[in-house]
Amino acid sequence: MYRIAVMVSGNGSNLQALIDNVHRNATVDAEIALVICSTGEAPAIERAQQADIRTEVVTMQAHGDRDSRDREVVRLLRLVHPDLVVMAGWMSIVTPVLLDAFPDQVINLHPSLLPAFPGMDSIAAALDWGSHVTGVTVHVAEEAVDGGPPILQEPVPILPGDTLETLSERVHGVEHRLLTRCVTLYAEGRVRRDPTRVRRMLVDEAGA
Ligand code: GRF
Repeated sequence: MYRIAVMVSGNGSNLQALIDNVHRNATVDAEIALVICSTGEAPAIERAQQADIRTEVVTMQAHGDRDSRDREVVRLLRLVHPDLVVMAGWMSIVTPVLLDAFPDQVINLHPSLLPAFPGMDSIAAALDWGSHVTGVTVHVAEEAVDGGPPILQEPVPILPGDTLETLSERVHGVEHRLLTRCVTLYAEGRVRRDPTRVRRMLVDEAGA
């Protein structure tokens, strides 16, 4: 069975989407083997526990700096032999300690059409910019924040009269669907690097 680890920091609505649509979906041969949370007080932890998924808390405070924190993350990940590590609302920069331990196996979810609006508060930034469109990106994680090649992207129109609340709701809805699809495609072996263009991810959606 394909083994997934999920890294979270907060609400965990994207984790919930993966629990409901991948972990508990009998038609996808995959399970969430571990959830790692960057804080002890996130609703995401309860979501994982409700689903009987092993949960670990790894805080920066307990480890002092990012490298030491990531060494602990790697140690915990190695215990469950993940095929894929999904950063689903993990709100902290990760280091090569993690990325080099799982090359091309760490993916990240971001609420904009990268490379537009990287970093924090991307939904508000798109709204404030007056952009007519934003979206969602799932990409391979690299050392540069929100910098790795996209795997799946989907635009979300910004409507006249949209508020942060209404736009966020639509963006999160797309995130839940896109992340589920992306993880399912990985589990089915349908994602690989383009051998001729290294920054391009090839996704075989036929029959998916
Ligand atoms: C999502 O918008 C994700 O893209 C961003 O943080 C948010 C996490 O939401 N990085 P949730 O914790 O999955 O509800």
